Amino acid sequence: DVTGLVDRFGRVAEDLRISVTEKCSLRCTYCMPAEGLPSIPRNDLLTASEIARLVGIAHHDLGVKEVRFTGGEPLTRADMVEIVARSHEVAPAIQIAMTTNGIGLDRKARALVDAGLTRINVSLDTLDREHFIRLTRRDRLDAVLAGIAAAHAAGLTPLKINAVLMRETLHDATELLAWAVAHDCRLRFIEQMPLDADETWRRDNMVDAAELLGVLGERFVLTPVAREDPSAPAEQWTVGGGPATVGIIASVTRSFCAACDRTRVTAEGTVRSCLFGDDETDLRGLLRSGATDADIADRWRAAMWNKQAGHGIDAADFHRPARSMGGIGG
Ligand code: GTP
Ligand code: 5AD
Ligand code: SF4
Repeated sequence: DVTGLVDRFGRVAEDLRISVTEKCSLRCTYCMPAEGLPSIPRNDLLTASEIARLVGIAHHDLGVKEVRFTGGEPLTRADMVEIVARSHEVAPAIQIAMTTNGIGLDRKARALVDAGLTRINVSLDTLDREHFIRLTRRDRLDAVLAGIAAAHAAGLTPLKINAVLMRETLHDATELLAWAVAHDCRLRFIEQMPLDADETWRRDNMVDAAELLGVLGERFVLTPVAREDPSAPAEQWTVGGGPATVGIIASVTRSFCAACDRTRVTAEGTVRSCLFGDDETDLRGLLRSGATDADIADRWRAAMWNKQAGHGIDAADFHRPARSMGGIGG
């Protein structure tokens, strides 16, 4: 008997994002501080079997249709393949996706697919090696490209690439798009949100969708396509008449909060209803104290009922959340 995750505004969360770690192999300036996030004590992290149990409850009791593993970088967890395998075992009908920076995929893509992973989004902001190093503070561009190639070879297609729009890499966007089209990847550019640990985000310095369209328009003919699913964050264009497409996730200038269908669980096992809401509801305590699936589902529903209307980045009273992107799970 499924009663879904409904909020006061009538939105229904069917898309679960679980962060599995705060650790990352890169230090992107729009996300992490140079030194990384403080380590979560091992015992505070959900285990693979706890994560799988939550996936099962989300699917069987709450009607969730897709789970996406994020981080930090999910592939820094040694048991990531096991997390996918156990989740698939508990809920064989759920779609299992991952958002990753691609490092380590060259070794793990095949095993992840065998374990039940169905979709993957890889973050890649530029193909310019110097720019990549400056943005991620690590010299790992080749490892990311090897990961993307391995994901393709393992059948994880169509593969999506996420590129956060930064002023330093804006003029790399055309080359990245040409590359994505040639490599059969669906590229999506993302407006940067104020979730960087260093708090350097400024609205008036942010590259927005309109500015990007101007840059891409100098080289490509872009034609808007109707949004297939209202809760999909990206607006799409065909490139050069298609079939290739490019997307823009205009989280700031064209917020999609009103159609948001997400619920999030942090690496420490709290439900977070919105990226921008600091209210978190602990599930780990319930998991570890003999609570039933029905108890856990009830607490999850109550947490989601209170979800806020939206992020309000452009509102006068906007407050940045206490956690940065790497600590929430992108
Ligand atoms: P698909 O199901 O493949 O479309 O995945 P996705 O786009 O939902 O997930 P992905 O992890 O690739 O996220 C892409 C970008 O969407 C992130 O980098 C964020 O910038 C943005 N995003 C994800 N979730 C939210 C959210 O709840 N609110 C807002 N404002 N932006 C989000
Ligand atoms: N704004 C928008 N997107 C971000 N990401 C990380 N930090 C930010 C930010 N401040 C993206 C990553 C990844 C996804 C999980 O979130 O690039 O694609
Ligand atoms: Fe790591 Fe992703 Fe944050 Fe970059 S955006 S530092 S890859 S978690």
